[in-house]
Amino acid sequence: MQCTRNITEDLVWVGGNDRRKALFENIFPIPRGVSYNSYVLLDEKTVLLDTVDDAVRGQFLENVAGVLDGRKLDYLVVNHMEPDHCAVIGDILLRYPEVQIVGNAKTFQMIGQFFEYDLSGNSVVVKEMDTLKTGKHELTFVMAPMVHWPEAMVAYDASTKTLFSADAFGTFGALNGNLFNDEIDFDRDWLDDARRYYTNIVGKYGVQTQNLLKKAATLDIQMICPLHGPIWRSDLGYILDKYTKWSTYEPEDKAVMIAYASMYGNTEAAANQLANLLAQKGVQNIAMYDVSNTHVSTLIAECFRCSHIVLAAPTYNGGIYPVMENFLTDMKALNVQKRTVAILENGTWAVTAGKQMRAMLEEMKEMEIMDTVTIKSALHDDTPLEKLAETIATQLA
Ligand code: FEO
Repeated sequence: MQCTRNITEDLVWVGGNDRRKALFENIFPIPRGVSYNSYVLLDEKTVLLDTVDDAVRGQFLENVAGVLDGRKLDYLVVNHMEPDHCAVIGDILLRYPEVQIVGNAKTFQMIGQFFEYDLSGNSVVVKEMDTLKTGKHELTFVMAPMVHWPEAMVAYDASTKTLFSADAFGTFGALNGNLFNDEIDFDRDWLDDARRYYTNIVGKYGVQTQNLLKKAATLDIQMICPLHGPIWRSDLGYILDKYTKWSTYEPEDKAVMIAYASMYGNTEAAANQLANLLAQKGVQNIAMYDVSNTHVSTLIAECFRCSHIVLAAPTYNGGIYPVMENFLTDMKALNVQKRTVAILENGTWAVTAGKQMRAMLEEMKEMEIMDTVTIKSALHDDTPLEKLAETIATQLA
């Protein structure tokens, strides 16, 4: 049965929601599920904007057929060729063999790599600022390379001031019936997942996201239709401000996160003690995470949110405790930068974790690294946490 919602009189959401998948990209936990958005424009010509993931194929095909209601499909715009959006292109070709596929040169290269469809006679290759007139509407295509793959592009409909933004402005989280940002409490219920989505999926490509934002700033946009999560039709400044901060690596909050790894509880005790001292010095909303029990995507999101990061870990096999090393590797991969970082190292003999953590942090851009605090096996009265707490509290005041 068709499960769709009208966005405007002639624009319909035909996507699907997946609450069964445990891991997005087989890496990222999605306890709130994820939506795969797709849109049908019912103009003089009919247009489908992107398809969906295999997981919601059946519902999606019913939605498209229901909305078309016997009309033929004229165009399929492929803004993004990642399989969570392109998996159902083949089914669309089978059902609507006359459909014209609209994409850029890289899109068609990727279609050829993923599939073996004969698209001769079915393809419309577009470049930057090319247009597709469909009747009342005209789509303008704007390239958005590396947001989040090289072929990514967005489509702008000037007649309704709508941006079909591909992965940009997307978020983890299935849609619970409510489709628009003004039907939900985004800041309360969605922001953490939106941050975790952006920072882990697109976080590495801040410069490219900035390039897209600059292009978007030249357009009069009143509605954003992303490929995941709610549609923005009000308060666009809110999400644009988040994207500006995230893509320029500026902290969202003047705040501290303490990420500790602890084998027997001694490093954890030091982290607790530091948090206690910080709180006594007036620091509020301290975020504390056990790296062994927190998915690294959450840690990365918090790195993007907080101005100050404390990393505490034992030495292990002469190196960094593995979960902390993995976190640092991910920080580097996702371009975390412009943060003030403190290191707490622990060890019973040959304490080397701090030196190696510092070396990894020094490979990141514009990191201000404080003096390392060394714990010898367990916390003692002379462990200099007081001085560290004072420095962080002063900076956050
Ligand atoms: Fe939602 Fe980059 O795919």
